[in-house]
Order: sequence, then structure tokens, then C-alpha cells
Amino acid sequence: KKIKIFSPGTIANLSCGFDVIGCCLDTIGDEMTITIEPGTGVFITKIEGADLPKEAHLNVAGVAVQALLDELDQDIQVTITILKNIKAGSGIGSSAASSAGAVWAVNELLNKPFAPHDLIRFAMQGEKLASGNAHADNVAPALLGGFTLIRSYTPLDIVKLPYPEDLMAIVVHPQIEVKTSDARAVLKQNVTLTDAITQWGNVGGLVAGLCLNDYQLIGRSLEDVIIEPLRSILIPKFEQVKKAALAQGALGCGISGSGPSIFALSQGIETANEVAKAMHEVYKNAEIDFDIYISNIN
Ligand code: HSE
Repeated sequence: KKIKIFSPGTIANLSCGFDVIGCCLDTIGDEMTITIEPGTGVFITKIEGADLPKEAHLNVAGVAVQALLDELDQDIQVTITILKNIKAGSGIGSSAASSAGAVWAVNELLNKPFAPHDLIRFAMQGEKLASGNAHADNVAPALLGGFTLIRSYTPLDIVKLPYPEDLMAIVVHPQIEVKTSDARAVLKQNVTLTDAITQWGNVGGLVAGLCLNDYQLIGRSLEDVIIEPLRSILIPKFEQVKKAALAQGALGCGISGSGPSIFALSQGIETANEVAKAMHEVYKNAEIDFDIYISNIN
């Protein structure tokens, strides 16, 4: 049995929600084909668009699928091909797209022995291989769609959030690679109580804004006093891009995942186009190569 899938990019953190909030994009993603047949083993036979290991135990898709197979009492051979459109180290959930896509596809081909929420813990094993940390804020939205909140990691408690219909995401990716493991290494292990109060106020505000369709509250809550000050120095022209996006009416703007991509949210496509144009101009004037995407959240 064979299936061809689109595996979506995601924005993790959304400023204030480090490791706990993420959302799913619908215009950028990888293409994967997955085949199952009787036998044993996970084989990655082709990877296009990226220089990634094909050995299953070194590949995030291979590791995630193996974690799923380990919980099944069946002999199955899985063959995977991947066309990577999301560049590794882009901050748009490249490793999550491979891990989440692979487990979702295998589960479909096996007639869904696992519920979507259960697939998250398998895909997290891919994230652990990629970054040294099994964070779920990319794989959860990739598997469940829309916005997700990781209420708790132990035990895993993941909530799918409602969100306003007209919310759009703009993502600009300067063409440098920032490894998630490196972007995690610059973080401090302790935060001050003052910063924690600001941050959890914003997380609550963002969740409330999404649930209440309150765009202004979403915008006010897209603030990060803990992670962004440390990571933004890794991103060329971060402050200028952010300022340009906000000046054109973006609700908020911050680092997408662990960077270097920068995301902005807007109400409606017209503002999204203006915001994208402004972000585009900053990099064009600085002669920095970039890709830019405008996407619905889905
Ligand atoms: N929450 C993770 C981080 C996402 O910021 O390190 C990585 O894509």
C-alpha cells in the first residue's frame, strides 16, 4: 500500500509560547511517499532538496516511524521518499514535517491504529534526534492542524485551539541555517520572576485572543521577553524586519521557531500582502537572499 502526502511547515513558539504554542501553515511543506508491505525495517530510499542521512536510525522520519512500529505487534516494512521544500535549519519546522508526515502516513496505511494525539509522541522522537530535545510545538500543529498548546509535557497534554478565520501568517526566511540545537544553547536556564510574569500573561493573552477572535489581544500578546532578546542576534536585520512589519499593520512579529525565519501575523490577506512587501524590502535593500511565504493557518 502506498500514499503520497503533503507535510506542512509550522511556526513554533509564536513569540511568548516557547516550546508550548505552535501553528500549522498551508502553503509550504514537504512531499513524501510512504509504502508499507509485509516484512521488517524502515528504508529511506530517496531524499531530494536536502542533504540528509538516509540511514533510518539517523533520519528523523525513520526514527519517528520506528517509534510507532515499536508499539505495534505486526511485521511491516516501510519505505519512504522525501522531497524537502522546507530547508533544514529554517525555523519553519523542517524536521517536524518529516517526522510528523511519516508517522501520519504509516498510521493511515495501517487503517489508523493510533489517534492523531497519539502520533505526537512518536514524531517527538524525530525532534529529539534533530535537536537533542523532544519538543512538540512543531509536530503537534503539523499533526493536528491549526493552533496547538502543549499544556504539559509530562504527562503529554495537548490542546487544539480555535482561532479567527482571517488570521494570516507571513514568514520570511533569510538564507542562513540556524541549527535548533545551537539556538537552544544560547538560552539561559533561569528566568526572573518579573520576566516570567510578563511571559505567562502574554501566553494567557494569546490563547484568550485566539479563542475570543480578538485580533488586538493576539497582537498585544505576541511579545517575548525571555527568548527573543537572546536569539534575535543570530538573525540578520531582525529588528528592522520586525519594525517594518509592525509599521504595515502586522498584529505582531517575532522569531519563527528557533529561527532564522521571522514570522508576522495579520488580519486578512490585504494587510498580509503589505506586511510581506515591507519585510521583503528590508532584506532586498540589505542584499540578503531570502524566501517569503504568505499562508493561511490550517
Ligand atoms: N520550541 C523550539 C525552539 C522550536 O524554539 O527551540 C524549534 O523549532
